[in-house]
Amino acid sequence: MCHYCGCREMPLLRDYIAEHERATNLGGDAVRAMDRGEHEHARELLAAMGVELRSHWQGEENGIFAVMGRVELYAEHISPLVREHRELEHLLQTVDLTHAADRDRVAKAVFDLREHIAKEEDGLFPASLTALSGAEWDEAMAAWHDAHPGQHMLGN
Ligand SMILES: [Fe+2]
Ligand SMILES: [Fe+2]
Repeated sequence: MCHYCGCREMPLLRDYIAEHERATNLGGDAVRAMDRGEHEHARELLAAMGVELRSHWQGEENGIFAVMGRVELYAEHISPLVREHRELEHLLQTVDLTHAADRDRVAKAVFDLREHIAKEEDGLFPASLTALSGAEWDEAMAAWHDAHPGQHMLGN
């Protein structure tokens, strides 16, 4: 598991994990706001989650997914993850929180996001520690910088 394997010691993975935490916190806050009937506040929180996730997805898909996806063993685990990114994006683009059914879809999506993240943090990220060469880490980190213009990676 990510908590034990050393993932958090690796720059880039540490950033990805921090992005996961920010996105799930925003999603959890949005669900709680919906539960209180604060739909406008929930909408703002979901919008903030979407901003966080879009740069995160770009960094992942052009970074660690791109380099690991060259190996067939990993590629078959990566394509469902990319599909889940697109599904959540579609939901965020189309959701109308004034509809109870849409609020249910959001609550389920936030729950599912935790599962999605677990597949990355407990599967792909630990595997990357042994799978990637130095040049591949450099490539993955360059994709992170492209996805987060003007930002710095987390310090030690
Ligand atoms: Fe992801
Ligand atoms: Fe992720």
